Amino acid sequence: MIEFKSVSKRYKNGVNALHDVSFSVKDGEFVYIMGPTGSGKSTMIKLLDGEEVPTSGSVMVSGVNVGRLRKSKVYLYRRKIGVVFQDYRLLPEKTAFENVAYALEVLDMPTDKIRKRVREVLKLVELADKSNAKPRELSGGQQQRVAIARAIAKKPMILIADEPTGNLDPEKTDEMIRLFEKINKEEKTTILVVTHNDVMVEYHPKRTIRLEDGHIVSDRLHENISFYHDRKLPGEEKTEPKKEENSDGIFPENENPENMSEAMKQDSLIDTITVPEELLKEEEHPEHKEEEQ
Ligand SMILES: Nc1ncnc2c1ncn2[C@@H]1O[C@H](COP(=O)(O)OP(=O)(O)OP(=O)(O)O)[C@@H](O)[C@H]1O
Ligand SMILES: [Mg+2]
Repeated sequence: MIEFKSVSKRYKNGVNALHDVSFSVKDGEFVYIMGPTGSGKSTMIKLLDGEEVPTSGSVMVSGVNVGRLRKSKVYLYRRKIGVVFQDYRLLPEKTAFENVAYALEVLDMPTDKIRKRVREVLKLVELADKSNAKPRELSGGQQQRVAIARAIAKKPMILIADEPTGNLDPEKTDEMIRLFEKINKEEKTTILVVTHNDVMVEYHPKRTIRLEDGHIVSDRLHENISFYHDRKLPGEEKTEPKKEENSDGIFPENENPENMSEAMKQDSLIDTITVPEELLKEEEHPEHKEEEQ
């Protein structure tokens, strides 16, 4: 569970990136974060992964008050969070397999378990046949899938992707979002996707939080339904939404998050998340005090 409570963020240069932002995301949900450039989307992600601390308010993730973590503990917390960066950030001299394995080696996982998990996630992202390729031998979309495999290898509670489709053509964009849907379903991972891509959001409707000038201006279970029903991607047959897609809030009766379907409620019942005890103790973040002034 993610909970932003009256979160404001003012950077040291005086820019107010977020103002009194409150929302919560249940375990197992899949949420898009949208909004114009400079509206505060990446700031929201930086508050979630502990890169930045709120100026006021609190960011809670599974009982951890992220803004109050000691710097020396942030790495422990980040083990529970997977982030896919737009520029992938792969290690150029390592193969796809090694790039993913590296994320697990730092967790001191036994080698046989690492190998098993790496094979599993590379299969999930459909790159099993590219295990030995280095990033330069892979296409942009394939590199991105390695980055996703790396982010999910440690079974994070939350997978966050900032503009994951920025460099992809429409077909690859569609594949990417289907992959996130698969991870959401098969690994029960809570997913937040930051995007400007209206078409993707319209074809794969999900709860969408829109930011403008640091304020949440809307938070709906789907966007532009008529578009979804009337249009199709090139080469794709027009299909009626399947029954289970109810859970993604395609039907208007799900507009209000309070009226979640049973299927959706079931979907969010994931295994109990284990957070290291020491992260649950509230501590003053050294930067926190500084920024409050
Ligand atoms: N480290 C920083 N120091 C000072 N100001 C910052 C910093 N990071 C972001 N900002 C400012 O905060 C505001 C929100 O930025 P943010 O990066 O969150 O926007 P965004 O919604 O992710 O935009 P984009 O779609 O362009 O990625 C902007 O005005 C930006 O200039
Ligand atoms: Mg951004």
